[in-house]
Amino acid sequence: MTRPFTIVLLLTATAPGVVSADAPTPTLTPLPAEIPSPPENPTTAPKVALGKRLFFDPRLSGDNTMSCATCHLPEKAFADGSEKSLGHGGKPLTRNTQGLANVGLFSSFFWDGRAASLEEQALGPIESSVEMNQDLDELERELNEVEGYRQSFQEVFGTAATCDAIAKALAAFQRTLVTDPSPFDRYLAGDDDAISDEAKRGMELFIGDAGCIRCHHGPLLSDGKFYRIGASWGDKGRGLITNDAEDNHRFRTPSLRNIAETAPYMHDGSLETLYDVVMFYFRGVPKASPEGQPLDIEPRLDSSFSDIDSLVAFLRTLSGKLPHITRPELPE
Ligand code: HEC
Ligand code: HEC
Repeated sequence: MTRPFTIVLLLTATAPGVVSADAPTPTLTPLPAEIPSPPENPTTAPKVALGKRLFFDPRLSGDNTMSCATCHLPEKAFADGSEKSLGHGGKPLTRNTQGLANVGLFSSFFWDGRAASLEEQALGPIESSVEMNQDLDELERELNEVEGYRQSFQEVFGTAATCDAIAKALAAFQRTLVTDPSPFDRYLAGDDDAISDEAKRGMELFIGDAGCIRCHHGPLLSDGKFYRIGASWGDKGRGLITNDAEDNHRFRTPSLRNIAETAPYMHDGSLETLYDVVMFYFRGVPKASPEGQPLDIEPRLDSSFSDIDSLVAFLRTLSGKLPHITRPELPE
């Protein structure tokens, strides 16, 4: 039995233009069993195996000390548990590291959505002078000196190690980071005992009075759109990409999949626990940005402390098991 979720939204207190009345009704949806790949980069087992080795290989960074997995830890749903990861030269980055559970379902990447595909995203951190600080021509040369890589790239792509192939392999690996059904998915599929009564109450609030579902919906519990919710003001977010002041301080709605494992929260890592996040929505949302722009959301001042506990209990049901990923042996 599949639970029929027809959720009627009362569109009160929303900024004009953010949600139009004829937008489809947002719903909570289970995860697909696998994440589809684009026609130009089909997911195959040998490609995924190559992508996994690259993901863990510090030779991808300029000084050969940092891999993707330095910041994206398998045991933390591929986030890293710190407010800001340390980049090249031990300097903290400006944003919190995102988890990667089910990341292949997004259609834009990073807090500001600046990459349109995982293929496009992959070379960003390698090349970035504040992250892995690697020259891409140098990277190709380095990998082609490794016998094991030369063979694998030849087998998978029929070419030497090129940036295009490196990006494709990394993307294919990341598309396999799909979680097993979480208690929440099992509940959606009809297993009434999969989540506690407290979590059910939290879910009612999430889709009802607390208004979370307006932005957090679909299989990732993210609509993939950009909002100004006022966690902090030091970062212009989406505005830096579009050069439109209207987008200043807007960030992509994050996925809530495996959210209990990826503390701390928000683009700046400023909120330590899920309790702090819900408290922020209830009491902390400011009225306007320092430039006077209104927010896309209002605080829920009518909510109670027990509502916070229920919402947190619900958020905790969204964790599913990731594939067991261990550090692979790196080719010589
Ligand atoms: C020094 C730490 C660091 C390293 C190394 C790193 N990342 Fe990240 N990653 C981050 C941070 C921080 C963000 C968010 C950046 C932003 O939004 O501007 C991020 C974001 C991402 C995202 C976007 C997730 C989403 O929800 O949109 C993906 C995918 C990703 N990284 C994959 C990789 C891959 C692949 C590598 C290796 C080639 C890598 N990262 C290396 C810190 C790191
Ligand atoms: C107007 C759209 C919107 C609404 C409504 C909304 N959120 Fe969010 N949510 C966002 C955005 C955007 C962010 C990221 C903000 C940032 O990084 O500064 C976010 C961040 C979060 C995070 C932290 C995720 C992470 O990876 O750091 C959690 C947890 C969360 N929201 C839960 C909720 C809950 C619970 C509700 C209801 C009480 C809610 N949201 C209502 C848009 C929304």
